Amino acid sequence: MALYSEKVMDHFRNPRNVGFLEDANGVGEVGNAKCGDIMKMYLKIEDDIVRDVKFETFGCGSAIASSSMATELIKGQPVSEVRKLTNKAVAEALDGLPDYKMHCSVLAEEAIQAALEDYENRTNR
Ligand code: FES
Repeated sequence: MALYSEKVMDHFRNPRNVGFLEDANGVGEVGNAKCGDIMKMYLKIEDDIVRDVKFETFGCGSAIASSSMATELIKGQPVSEVRKLTNKAVAEALDGLPDYKMHCSVLAEEAIQAALEDYENRTNR
C-alpha cells in the first residue's frame, strides 16, 4: 500500500485556497516546535459563516495537504460547525495519514481554532 493516499498527493500537488486574505477578520498562526513547520489561516467570516479562507503553510507535504483539505471542509460552514473541526476529521477526509504524520493534521485544527479565537476577540470588543 502506498504511504500516502491519492487525496493527500492531490492536495499536496494542487493545494486549494493557498495565499492570504487582505480582508480577513480572523487570523491564526501555529507551529510545531519539533519539526519547525508553521501554518497560518486567514478567515473571512460574515453573518457567522466562513465566506472565504486561505492558508500559508511552511511545512511538509502532509501539512500542506492537511491545510488544503481543512480549508475545503470549512468553506461556507457556520462558525459553530467550524469550531467542532478536529484533526481526525481532516485526516479522514484525506483518506488517512500515516501515524507519524498525524501531528501535521493537528496543525490544521490548531490554526483554524486560533483564527476563530482571533475572530471572536475582534468581534467581542
Ligand atoms: Fe511537521 Fe508535518 S512534519 S507538520
